[in-house]
Parts: sequence; structure tokens; C-alpha cells
Amino acid sequence: MRPYIICHMLSSIDGRIDGDTLTEVIPAGEYETTGAKLKGDAWMCGRTTMQLHFAEKRLFISRTHKQAGPQPVHVAQRASSYAISIDTLGRLRWSESDIDGDHLICIVSERATTDYLTLLREKGISYIVAGKKSVDLAKAVRLLHKHFDIKRLLLEGGGNINGAFLESGLVDELSLLLVPGIDGRHDIPTVFDGMKPKLKRAARLKLMSVLKRKNGALWLRYRVR
Ligand SMILES: NC(=O)c1ccc[n+]([C@@H]2O[C@H](COP(=O)([O-])OP(=O)(O)OC[C@H]3O[C@@H](n4cnc5c(N)ncnc54)[C@H](OP(=O)(O)O)[C@@H]3O)[C@@H](O)[C@H]2O)c1
Repeated sequence: MRPYIICHMLSSIDGRIDGDTLTEVIPAGEYETTGAKLKGDAWMCGRTTMQLHFAEKRLFISRTHKQAGPQPVHVAQRASSYAISIDTLGRLRWSESDIDGDHLICIVSERATTDYLTLLREKGISYIVAGKKSVDLAKAVRLLHKHFDIKRLLLEGGGNINGAFLESGLVDELSLLLVPGIDGRHDIPTVFDGMKPKLKRAARLKLMSVLKRKNGALWLRYRVR
């Protein structure tokens, strides 16, 4: 048992996802308004996105460097909505136990340090340790369902964490807000990034709906086959 997972992203026509560029061509709040219609009980981002937009700027530095190894799930609190970060080594620093009212759950691998987990507990932040060297995404989402009763999860980027979920067969639906703008720059993250080069085939999607939104944006929803 795992949550139904919807990847919800804002993208230029050429698939690039740099938010600062895209805000020029889309009304403020349009991404969030559209996302709210998906009725998720949790949203999730990769370490890079969390560091850029939500966590403290300075990273955590361990004093002990003692790896945590396997650990039980820590449920600091149950809530009606959750914000979830995927942070392999446990490097993000958090000032609060929530993001805009959504209780924070940090997912780390066994390589995160014991003093990092202690810090999370002291701050009232929940955590899941899943995976030895890297985060075991399939296990992590099963534990989110089991311990936090998360049934509908919005995966909100960036491209690398989206790509890793897709490769693991963990994306059920894509919700793409396609804005009328072209980025065109090299080395800008795209909606799905970092997938194995040898794959050489497109993931198949089935169109569910197309809606015209404000300023000529299109809201596309696809089921992942
Ligand atoms: N337009 C949109 O809707 C939207 C939404 C979100 C983000 N963004 C943009 O996307 C950009 C960041 O995207 P990004 O692709 O560079 O980073 P990302 O997907 O946010 O984060 C990737 C990082 O997550 C961590 N991670 C942990 N477990 C992982 C796993 N199993 N597979 C892959 N990654 C794992 C890795 O860092 P560690 O190994 O260090 O943990 C990895 O480098 C930013 O520019 C941001 O503004 C746009």
C-alpha cells in the first residue's frame, strides 16, 4: 500500500522549470491554485528545491559523523497536511517543524547522521530513514502511507526527484501547468531529469484532461501507463 502519486509541475513550452523565469508569464499563485484542486494530503520536493525555496540557507554539518543506520520511523505529530523533503545525507536545516502549516517529514537514507536525527527530534520534525546508500523511494512512500496515512501525494519537483520517482514506477499521474513561454537555456532543469541514458524510450502517458487557464496557460493531466 502506498499513496496515489501525482507529479504536479509548472513548465515552459520547452519543458524547463526555472520558477523565476516562468513567473514572468503566469499570474502569481496560479501553480498553487491549480495544485490545490488536486486535493493532496501531502506535497514533496527534492533536496535541491527544498534548499532553494524552503530550508535555511546554511547546511547542517555533523559533529560526530556517525551514520544512523536503520532507524524506526519517528512520528513527531500527525496532521491534516504534510510537507516532505527527500534529503539523502540529512543536510537541510529547518527553523520550524512545519512549512506554512504543513507538518514537516524528512526522508533520509541510513547515511544521515545520528546528531542530525537528534536535531530533527528536538525540533519536533518527523522523519523516515529508508535506504542504505540512497533513499529507497518505494519503501519511503509505503511508510508514509502506513505511519502518516498519506493517501494522495503531490510530487512537486524538481526534475531529478521527479525522474527518480518515474524510473521507480512511482508516478501515477502527471499534472502539468504549461505556460506560454519559452526558456531555451541550456542546463536548466526540466520536468523529468537524470534518468538513465540507456532507457531510450518515452514513458507512455494517457491524456485525462486539458483545461485552458489564465493568461493562455494549459493545465494538462495525464495518467502514467
Ligand atoms: N516549475 C516547477 O514546478 C518547479 C517545482 C520544483 C522545483 N523547481 C525547480 O527545480 C530546480 C531543482 O531541480 P533539481 O532537479 O536540480 O533538484 P531536486 O529534484 O529538487 O533535488 C534533487 C536532489 O534530491 C536528492 N535526492 C534524494 N534521494 C534522491 C533520489 N532517490 N533520486 C534523486 N534525487 C534524490 C538528491 O540530493 P542529495 O543526494 O543531496 O539528497 C538530488 O540531488 C530548481 O530550479 C527549482 O526551482 C521547479
